[in-house]
Amino acid sequence: MAHGSQSDTRKKLLELFAEANGDFISGQKISEILGCSRAAVWKHIEELRKEGFELEAVRRLGYRIVSTPDKVTANEIQLGLKTETFGHFVHFEEEVASTQKIALKLAYEGAKEGTLVISELQTAGRGRMGRKWFSPKGTGIWMSLILRPPIPPQKAPQLTLLTAVAICQAIQQVTGIVPDIKWPNDILLNGKKCVGILTELQADPDRVHSVIIGIGVNVNQTVEQFPEDIRTIATSLAIEKGERIKRARLVQEILLQLEKLYHQYLQHGFRPIKLLWEGYAVSIGKKITARTLNGSIKGTALGITDEGLLMLEDEDKHIHYIHSADIQL
Ligand code: BTN
Repeated sequence: MAHGSQSDTRKKLLELFAEANGDFISGQKISEILGCSRAAVWKHIEELRKEGFELEAVRRLGYRIVSTPDKVTANEIQLGLKTETFGHFVHFEEEVASTQKIALKLAYEGAKEGTLVISELQTAGRGRMGRKWFSPKGTGIWMSLILRPPIPPQKAPQLTLLTAVAICQAIQQVTGIVPDIKWPNDILLNGKKCVGILTELQADPDRVHSVIIGIGVNVNQTVEQFPEDIRTIATSLAIEKGERIKRARLVQEILLQLEKLYHQYLQHGFRPIKLLWEGYAVSIGKKITARTLNGSIKGTALGITDEGLLMLEDEDKHIHYIHSADIQL
């Protein structure tokens, strides 16, 4: 298991390379800043190479980073990460059953807010409403973030909506594509699902202990890589954009946008987030069917409440407030 608690030295080295922006840094300078020998610097460089970082070493000039691998290890995520705390601790594993399960365990053991669990492959990825989440190796982002918001438990669904907005902003920033949100938290590109969000809450009746935000993003899959039964309803960013995307870069941007919105939310409440959410929402003002556990309701989606519930007006002008459902447009 490649653990995320990498040494501070390694972290500093990656920060130095990020600051250098592709320019050379001399071995002397690196060893002075890191406070270690030139031989130790060389060892760190070798380890980064083993992980797939391409590093050039030139006598008298030093080292420079040529390219980073399309992996989602702690190193790739932390190289150039601009957040204050989110993702500063990364728990990476090549393969897991579900990142949610690990994050839940870490949260229970007291992991800090902003701790990220991420993996290249999930063998039992969990979706909403007891469904499975298809999480093949090396093509998507399968991650879970631990939050400890000082809010009452009934407000936790707002964090799901907040996350959807943050991911839309991040996708827009990295790819230029503007996604749609289908209530509560599906992110669609050209009507097909590209991102799923699963929020799990640990709380007492009056206090939240932790919220695990599970995020699954289809990034680099080709059409053929999706199982046939979901090909018509699922897509990836690469399919829509026509080129591959560096997953770690997108993870960084998701963490950054999430952290910004989360701070805004804790300071100013849900209103500003709700406005942003409505800007991305496709279902508002449209006739939809909401399939809840207690049956289906047809009507017009009016919007969301300040708590994040969907307001659906049926033919008799009766307004239903929906907590959880599948929406058909
Ligand atoms: C949905 O059904 O739309 C939600 C899917 C959430 C999938 C993500 S992938 C990372 C995290 N780990 C899981 O097992 N599920 C979530």
